[in-house]
Amino acid sequence: MHRWLSIFGLSMSIVSSQIAASAADSSISQQAWGKTQSGISVDLYSLKNANGVEARISNYGGTLTHWFAPDRNGKLGDVVLGFDTLAEYEAGSPYFGCLVGRFGNRIAKGKFVLDGTTYQLPLNDGPNTLHGGTQGFDKVVWTAKPVPGAEPALELTYVSKDGEMGYPGNLTVKAVYTLTKDNALRLDYTATTDKPTILNLTQHAYFNLAGKGTINDHVLYLNADRMTPVDATLIPTGELTPVKGTPFDFTTPTKIGARVEAKDAQLGYGKGYDHNFVVNQAKPGELTLQARVTEATTGRMLEVLSTEPAVQFYGGNFLTGKLKGKGGELIPHRSGFCLEPQHYPDSPNQASFPSTVLRPGQVYKNTIIFRLGVTK
Ligand code: BGC
Repeated sequence: MHRWLSIFGLSMSIVSSQIAASAADSSISQQAWGKTQSGISVDLYSLKNANGVEARISNYGGTLTHWFAPDRNGKLGDVVLGFDTLAEYEAGSPYFGCLVGRFGNRIAKGKFVLDGTTYQLPLNDGPNTLHGGTQGFDKVVWTAKPVPGAEPALELTYVSKDGEMGYPGNLTVKAVYTLTKDNALRLDYTATTDKPTILNLTQHAYFNLAGKGTINDHVLYLNADRMTPVDATLIPTGELTPVKGTPFDFTTPTKIGARVEAKDAQLGYGKGYDHNFVVNQAKPGELTLQARVTEATTGRMLEVLSTEPAVQFYGGNFLTGKLKGKGGELIPHRSGFCLEPQHYPDSPNQASFPSTVLRPGQVYKNTIIFRLGVTK
């Protein structure tokens, strides 16, 4: 049982982690979630819509910890991987549910040149920098402000200082999560900088639409005719290759596990799927359906839409089966998948990739929508 302080909607209420399907109105409530090791107080927010769908988000890393959504019989279940406590997230999370920045995905050798200056970032993934560095936006406490309105929303703000994790420029990032009437979680990012910098923000929810087991039988459609193949350290080679005729062709809906063990050099490098797909987008910045995932036993369906040009599909290959998640249960290998809308990995070092440079006076915008539904 948790004590929630209602901000909009219901007054003070006690809510158990089992949420009734008949919740009356949309609301947002808040509870204290403890302190970080450095003593900063952190909260957990609960966003609910009139369908009884509930998303819990913490201002620690902007982390989506729970998302209760109906199956085809209206039964609510949690569709994201995570932990019960803040301490577990701090102790070592494989980026469960968090916001990712300043630069999502990998930068080769943690090094890039911008306007003639070379910048060196901390290395945290073999020879490379992953997801912003040793203390990315997933490990910081954001300032949270619930936003009133017909749909519950939470505005998170973080100011990343000039030089933080090696990146230039004071960067102000706003991330607004909205739980919509149609059971989508919408994330709207905006950002500005006072010096030229690089930026690649994304969201790192691990989904399991069945709420348990592996994701091998989930069926994936990717709206991507091409991908960016990688080297053994998961840095793009710079090519854009067609997926047709390879285990990476998800343009026809296919079970994630159907070809994951195929003999394929790219699958070998990722230990399965861990690759950037180039989305078929009519024009840059246009909100586009990137992916759709369906799960037969529950009928749950996830659609991913974004304004970003690409999506990293990561199949939970590095979940070893040893980590304990919610309720102290071991998290099996490949029991969650991530679809991370973003720019291509290592863009700052790849002149032919769409630019990830943000300059003073420009406003960075990125919308990511995870929409849950059911199939018959
Ligand atoms: C990366 C994986 C990495 C994972 C961290 C994904 O975005 O592509 O290689 O292991 O994040 O959990």
